[in-house]
Amino acid sequence: MPELQRLHAGHAPAVLAFELANRAYFAASVPDRGDDFFDQFTDRYNALLAEQEAGICAFHVLVAEDGSVLGRFNLVDIEDHTAELGYRVAQDVAGRGVATATVRELCQLAAAQYRLRTLRAATVRQNAASQRVLTKAGFVPVGPADPAHLGGEPGTWYQRDLVHAISPVDRLREGRGHR
Ligand SMILES: CC(C)(COP(=O)(O)OP(=O)(O)OC[C@H]1O[C@@H](n2cnc3c(N)ncnc32)[C@H](O)[C@@H]1OP(=O)(O)O)[C@@H](O)C(=O)NCCC(=O)NCCS
Repeated sequence: MPELQRLHAGHAPAVLAFELANRAYFAASVPDRGDDFFDQFTDRYNALLAEQEAGICAFHVLVAEDGSVLGRFNLVDIEDHTAELGYRVAQDVAGRGVATATVRELCQLAAAQYRLRTLRAATVRQNAASQRVLTKAGFVPVGPADPAHLGGEPGTWYQRDLVHAISPVDRLREGRGHR
């Protein structure tokens, strides 16, 4: 069964293979990463790991039993118990509920492990599949997203409150920590 794993150095070859194999597929919905991303992959990857180490981001990969990467699910700009969610899933497994199930799982993880209370995600208006994923995972539209945030395309911010994803015991602990 595929497993959601926190990104580490050992995932690098599988992440590169995933990005290369799906480059054209992703570019149809989100801005292409550009040739530099692939040319300087090791440097870029190490920079991501450094950001993760600093607690600014938390990157995850959905790993198949054979070690291949089926999807990437990232929490970025973590600040004040809030983060932005981003994701991409391999074309080979598209339309099977992979993104929806994994976003739901990441919401649980975001609350329990990273102590986040709110997740936000921006999607362009034409990306109906992504909007469907967000809606099914409990996100609601909260307003327009700046086109500069989305490669120049108009879009919408979605948001999910995670407080109910935290267990009552953890919520009590959280409350005590803030008084
Ligand atoms: C968006 C993406 C993550 C969806 O991954 P996925 O695993 O195929 O998603 P799921 O199978 O969980 O759900 C997709 C939903 O979108 C629907 N969908 C797919 N294409 C659609 C379209 N063109 N119009 C309307 N709905 C569409 C599917 O029917 C499904 O909904 P349903 O379960 O109600 O039938 C994937 O297509 C992807 O990686 N795209 C490129 C990167 C990207 O857009 N990332 C998001 C940036 S905000």
